[in-house]
Amino acid sequence: MAMNIKTLVFTRQKNTKDLLQKYIENIEGFDFLASTDDCDKALNAIGELDKALFIVDVSDYEEEVLNMVVKVLSANPKIDVIALCDKPDSKIVIKAMRVGVNDFLQLPLIKEKFESAVLKIKNNELGVKISNSKCKTLSVFSNKGGVGKTSIAMNLALELAKNTKENVALLDLNFQLGDVTTFWDLTPTFDISYMLKNSDKLNEEFILSTFEKYKKYSLYILANPPYYKSADYVSVGDIEKLISAMQKVFSYIVIDTSTGFGNKVMKVLELSDLIFFVTTVNLPALRNCQKCMELFDDVHIDKDKIKIVINRYMESDDVKTEDVENLLHKKIYWKIPNNYFTMMASINKGVPVADINVSSNVAKSYKDLSMIVADSIYRQNLDDGLNKE
Ligand SMILES: Nc1ncnc2c1ncn2[C@@H]1O[C@H](COP(=O)(O)OP(=O)(O)O)[C@@H](O)[C@H]1O
Ligand SMILES: [Mg+2]
Repeated sequence: MAMNIKTLVFTRQKNTKDLLQKYIENIEGFDFLASTDDCDKALNAIGELDKALFIVDVSDYEEEVLNMVVKVLSANPKIDVIALCDKPDSKIVIKAMRVGVNDFLQLPLIKEKFESAVLKIKNNELGVKISNSKCKTLSVFSNKGGVGKTSIAMNLALELAKNTKENVALLDLNFQLGDVTTFWDLTPTFDISYMLKNSDKLNEEFILSTFEKYKKYSLYILANPPYYKSADYVSVGDIEKLISAMQKVFSYIVIDTSTGFGNKVMKVLELSDLIFFVTTVNLPALRNCQKCMELFDDVHIDKDKIKIVINRYMESDDVKTEDVENLLHKKIYWKIPNNYFTMMASINKGVPVADINVSSNVAKSYKDLSMIVADSIYRQNLDDGLNKE
């Protein structure tokens, strides 16, 4: 029989400690070991364990507690860590994820959320693949070409797969000029028209075996049809059927859309939980965006799911973030820095941006965006205003 996982709690709040102890004692496979509010004591205790769950409350002591987590994980990467915080913001969440915590939860603790975070750890230990009951579908859209949609869709999808280890799909619906295969030098065996010809077989096994698995990652790619003409045979109904079958298989679906407002694109936007509306910061592009926002309104696309993503952002841009927000009546969700050199190297070599330079500002930005998209807190509360320089 497998040994129970020992759980050590670090918090300065007695009520948090009491609650955690009560919850842990009721979860099968876990033992409550001790609680402390002293970093050295915590380090000593956890240093003696081969495997453990370490729950850390970072409220008010973020720097100190996360430094302790770094020490713990560098000494023993097998330790699982759940971070808690009473006032989490995107910066703390990203910092915590970067140092390697498994999950991040808001205080006061919600029992179901805590239990599901612990269960996720248990399943990981047991090697059980967790299939998310709710798939999140994200589309990357712009009514202008060349703003960075394909770059964002591809690198974001890969980062989601890397950071969540869940199954992620990348769907190229750019029927005329699909770039996905060229960007990463792929020669997929099957494309979307093959899938649709076999639409009676769209089950998990068929989907996972026909999509192109990207290297060692849990990223599965479905390319656009190789012949422009074959796109004509793909109907709006086909796309709906494909996406809904995919939603049963993947935890995340990232869709690179074509420009414009054709029926197929509109259907994709309707089926998406989040629409990353990409723009660059110059007046013609922004005016265009403004018109698009009006159109979204006219066709009743839920405004909350539209997230403005500025690409090729530069501090020195004449048009400032606030100007953009005033013009579009919407907060900017994310900014991806301009980095011509790294982006070009990625395209020329046919590899993801992180393979060119993992510590470049663009690679970091894609990674952080994936964490925000994936993080449980923001799953429930994906509101605007997660600005990040
Ligand atoms: N953050 C960035 N910094 C610099 N160049 C970028 C950035 N994002 C994209 N690019 C470049 O812009 C061009 C268009 O990007 P692409 O992803 O193909 O846009 P779209 O899919 O919207 O047409 C590509 O050459 C790409 O390398
Ligand atoms: Mg493109």
